[in-house]
Amino acid sequence: MRRRKILAAGIVFCMCMRSLCACESQQLSGEDKVRVGVAYYNQSDTFLNELIACFKEELQSFESDDLEVTVTVRDAAGSQRTQDDQVKEMLDAGCNVLCVNLVDRADPSEIIDLARERDIPIIFFNREPVAEDLMQQDGLYYVGAEAEESGIMQGELAVDAIRQNDRIDRNKDGKIQYVVLEGEAGHQDAIIRTENAVETLKSNGIALEKLSYQIANWNRAQAQNRMEQMIGQYQNKIELVLANNDDMALGAMDAYRKLNYTESALPVFFGIDGTDVGLQAVRDGKMAGTVYNDKEGQAEAMAKLAVAAATGEGMEDIEFENEKYIYLPYQKVTPDQIDEFLDEEA
Ligand code: GAL
Ligand code: CA
Repeated sequence: MRRRKILAAGIVFCMCMRSLCACESQQLSGEDKVRVGVAYYNQSDTFLNELIACFKEELQSFESDDLEVTVTVRDAAGSQRTQDDQVKEMLDAGCNVLCVNLVDRADPSEIIDLARERDIPIIFFNREPVAEDLMQQDGLYYVGAEAEESGIMQGELAVDAIRQNDRIDRNKDGKIQYVVLEGEAGHQDAIIRTENAVETLKSNGIALEKLSYQIANWNRAQAQNRMEQMIGQYQNKIELVLANNDDMALGAMDAYRKLNYTESALPVFFGIDGTDVGLQAVRDGKMAGTVYNDKEGQAEAMAKLAVAAATGEGMEDIEFENEKYIYLPYQKVTPDQIDEFLDEEA
């Protein structure tokens, strides 16, 4: 009994002290501070750098006299072990919401455990964990886009270009000889984009002949290197290059430039992302089209969710699919409407 009384008195005392401190110093309480820890797989990735820049901007717009927002960003340089350590450090430093772009999308368990111990929400983004991992506890979310949609759109862009321009079938055999540059093996945006782009071409009656494919891990330099190999093998037989992202499409163009191919001997190139350099290539007529990966939309959704999850306010305004997922739509980008996208960028 006595112990209970002492305990009760203690609690009342603490509560008074807390409110006193809050009044006196006018400081923001823990819930009014959003400390975001961002962990991403590799700083050499063009699209992610642009997405994270947008995310920082979006977060700033939430700052006010009543809400302090800070962001810490860590690059894992392609190592899941490094990323696990970085997440632990950010949590130890007091981050109260995490945004994680996994290195290995099949291996989030360490990070999920760390967040569970401290009851901190995690917003995974761009590299989608498998559903079982996301479903294992509350406070886990995913923001991204549907790979299938981007593949279909890339296929449709290619269908339109091939129908409008009979010079694309350079050897006039009624078939389009193509190669694919793929992102990382095991990434949701690699194989699914390729499959859907190719299926869309076929279901629209375009006869195709696949010459080859190479994995270039989203990377421009690797894509240039792989493309040089394919050109070495097929010379001017290649009529279409489908790349899983803009950087790899640009790498393919670099290869042709390096080998001094004339304009009329070039294939058509299609990318995905609409990065700054990707959009410029479409504007300059070098890339036939791309698919806009809505980094502004994704960044906005992440910022809104991060603030809501950290403060506990505004969650009810957020619309999820399956209670945890937010997918932003892709958009086709052709030279005709490139100005709209370049304006948005400016
Ligand atoms: C894709 C994007 C690629 C690359 C990759 C990294 O969505 O199209 O360019 O950034 O994510 O996970
Ligand atoms: Ca042909």
